[in-house]
Amino acid sequence: MIISLCLIGFCTCAFYLHFVYRNWQYLKFSWQVKNGFWYPILPLIGTMYVSLFSESINIMSLMQWIDKIKGFPFSLWDADKYIYITKDTKEVKIFVNHPKCVNKAPFYDKLKFIFDDSIFVVPEEIWKKQRKHFGMGFKSSILKNNVYVYYNHSCRMIEDLKYVETPKDIFRYFDRYSVQSFFLGNTGISKYLSSFEMEKVGDIILEIQDLLNSLIIIPFISPKLWLAIFPAGKKIKKLLEESKEITKYGIAQKKKMLRENQEYRENSKDILELCLIYNPNDSDDKIMRQVAFFASAGSDTTGYALTFTFVLLGMHQEIQEKVYKEVMEVVGDKDITHQDLPNLKYTEATICETLRLFPVVPVIGRSCDEDIDLGTKIIPKGSSCIFSILHLHRDPQYWPDPLKFDPSRFLPENQSKINPSSFMPFSAGPRDCIGKAQALVNLKVTIANVARHFKITSNHRSIQEFSLQSCLTMKTRESPHCCFSARKK
Ligand code: HEM
Ligand SMILES: *[C@@H]1O[C@H](CO)[C@@H](O)[C@H](O)[C@H]1NC(C)=O
Ligand SMILES: *[C@@H]1O[C@H](CO)[C@@H](O)[C@H](O)[C@H]1NC(C)=O
Ligand SMILES: *[C@@H]1O[C@H](CO)[C@@H](O)[C@H](O)[C@H]1NC(C)=O
Repeated sequence: MIISLCLIGFCTCAFYLHFVYRNWQYLKFSWQVKNGFWYPILPLIGTMYVSLFSESINIMSLMQWIDKIKGFPFSLWDADKYIYITKDTKEVKIFVNHPKCVNKAPFYDKLKFIFDDSIFVVPEEIWKKQRKHFGMGFKSSILKNNVYVYYNHSCRMIEDLKYVETPKDIFRYFDRYSVQSFFLGNTGISKYLSSFEMEKVGDIILEIQDLLNSLIIIPFISPKLWLAIFPAGKKIKKLLEESKEITKYGIAQKKKMLRENQEYRENSKDILELCLIYNPNDSDDKIMRQVAFFASAGSDTTGYALTFTFVLLGMHQEIQEKVYKEVMEVVGDKDITHQDLPNLKYTEATICETLRLFPVVPVIGRSCDEDIDLGTKIIPKGSSCIFSILHLHRDPQYWPDPLKFDPSRFLPENQSKINPSSFMPFSAGPRDCIGKAQALVNLKVTIANVARHFKITSNHRSIQEFSLQSCLTMKTRESPHCCFSARKK
């Protein structure tokens, strides 16, 4: 008995001596940070157990617990890896623009098991090449062409909304809409697929996303094991297989076209083509995963942004009237074209204000590949940093009356009052969202089109009502409420 106690005592001492020796500089830094310093660092889990103190186990709840109880900045240990959490605009600005801070934080590693060489998680050297290459798929000429695609797609959705009761799960509804927008606008594969097949692929991607979210919350299970043994992991494999089957023919056609037709290759480059060109010898499986990553980066995000915008418009009738009036003045009953978009200023401001209150990517994590000077302190190389975009966007220091939904903050005449680093729904710096211009175009077209056809109402009364959750993209615990009733002509 005594011997085993001694042994345990000895091992504990050895563990902590070793820990302090290895992590002395991070401990010193976290002493400067203060918040989070006194939580005991346990073997294997570090201080991650503090997530148990928050309302539910997900990163958004953790951020809200920190904000309410402890305050930013805050220190966390994921096993022996130090994480610095901040919402300070000056620090966030330094991080996102720093050339040695473009690698993703280690907690994104789990994504690598599904999206192994996707642009989102690859290390810096590979990322640089990919970013340049895939940037060609988001050029303004392509965007301009896509305006009609989005417009056409939104018209079909509007017909659907007119004759079907407002869907209960509007997150899912707009998610589905957005993943299809992606396939229509970015893959050129739709002409080889029936609309049923395309919907199927879209649904598969949404399902994979849901399953992945559940993987990200489980902290202690190795993703390899998860994929091999757990039902959710097996399901992902099966779904990927299925989507490969459906898209096989389309991919083969694209490959053939690329081989035969040089001119086609010069003029229009969608994401699928770019994937095929980037690595001509990749298997269909790899190509499918690359495309699937883009599809999932573009769908949840756009879908949730649509949902939150409609819910907020439903909650604020006077603002909805302003959007309606602007759309009627600028577009009227005509088709929406790319020339209309710059004139939809209030609509755009409404989108920005929605993304301020509900940044659909509420937390971003990067890794510090060298010591980084934050002005008041130097964060040591090897740390990770997390920025809480949600708290940045709701900080009263930068946003007077932060919980008020007021699109006029983003009108051109007021924009000079905004500190650019206090608003970054698409992140910022070199590794920001590659699809941000596309997302804005799609959101603007869709929202303008829906706003002129429907009167939107919602039961929600205040922003505080929403119980926010996030693994990667932000959701509310229950799908929010919102109704669409056709406007009488
Ligand atoms: C409202 C819509 C969207 C929001 C709020 C959003 C937000 C973001 C954010 C915050 C990041 C950066 C994360 C970081 O800094 O670590 C990001 C990255 C990315 N997004 Fe988006 N996004 C949206 C739509 C889209 C769309 C439509 C696409 C493409 C079809 C897309 C593709 C990507 C890709 C590929 C990356 C990784 C970029 C890189 O690592 O270089 N996103 N997005
Ligand atoms: C959308 O496109 C389809 C086929 O590409 C076409 O038949 C339909 O008329 C278009 N709808 C609108 C509203 O332009
Ligand atoms: C792809 O394979 C072909 C022939 O197998 C080879 O000549 C070519 O260099 C390879 N390309 C790349 C980018 O690996
Ligand atoms: C923005 O500008 C308008 C005048 O164009 C003004 O009425 C409004 O109060 C301003 N809003 C903010 C938040 O500054």
